[in-house]
Amino acid sequence: MDLARFSALAHRWHDFCSPVDPDRFDRMIARLPIGAEDRVLDLGCGNGAMLARVCRSFGARGEGVEQSLGMMEACRNHPEIEVFSGDANNITLTPGYALGLVVGATHIFGGLEGSLARLAPLLAPGGHALIGQVFWKKPPSEAFLRLLGAPKEVFSDLDGTLQPLDRAGFRFLRAQVSGELEWDAYEGLYHQSMEAWLRDHPDDPDQTAFTQRFLDVRRRYWEGGRDYLGFVLALYRL
Ligand SMILES: C[S@@+](CC[C@H](N)C(=O)[O-])C[C@H]1O[C@@H](n2cnc3c(N)ncnc32)[C@H](O)[C@@H]1O
Repeated sequence: MDLARFSALAHRWHDFCSPVDPDRFDRMIARLPIGAEDRVLDLGCGNGAMLARVCRSFGARGEGVEQSLGMMEACRNHPEIEVFSGDANNITLTPGYALGLVVGATHIFGGLEGSLARLAPLLAPGGHALIGQVFWKKPPSEAFLRLLGAPKEVFSDLDGTLQPLDRAGFRFLRAQVSGELEWDAYEGLYHQSMEAWLRDHPDDPDQTAFTQRFLDVRRRYWEGGRDYLGFVLALYRL
């Protein structure tokens, strides 16, 4: 199954591709010292909406890296950003960014610490990193882990996610945990978008596989995900 295509279709109605409310996001970045001459980097930038929002806030230039063709297509809605197609692990970038984002994409670098380590050499001295990471709100049941198809170790609890606070050469500044409203809005739109797409494309070659995945992800959220999964945005300074 083409998971990247499924994800791009499921996110086609979203603002951000993470359970983060845009207004709360604005408050999180409001005090960042970014100016019109600065560049902002987003690794795994999805549809580009978050990067474009940062750039509009500060008048800065945005550069994203994305490997899904469907997401690259969605980035075209944001002409104010430049998006490079490739693997964020090894793509060559020009250092000196004022801010680097890895939101909902930390798995690319093996987690939060690895994401900070990837960003560190790319940032200007005193640059900032904004990391968005899933965590366990409470220990998951075996039944939920089976639904998720992943071991418990795939995430930590909030304490284990954020501790130690200062690390990889960064100073921890603040963090913001997403609330139930943000999760319900994110997951609800994901399921609703996919259900509508499946109805409108009965003859698509991916119809059978995508229908099964739609049923699985919807079940995963309503049979545990809503209770077990949290999401935190954490802000650091180099
Ligand atoms: C959950 S989305 C988050 C998108 C965006 N950061 C946001 O929060 O709106 C994660 C994105 O990372 C992309 N991705 C996954 N692995 C990648 C890689 N190795 N290189 C570049 N992008 C990758 C996926 O295609 C997906 O669009």
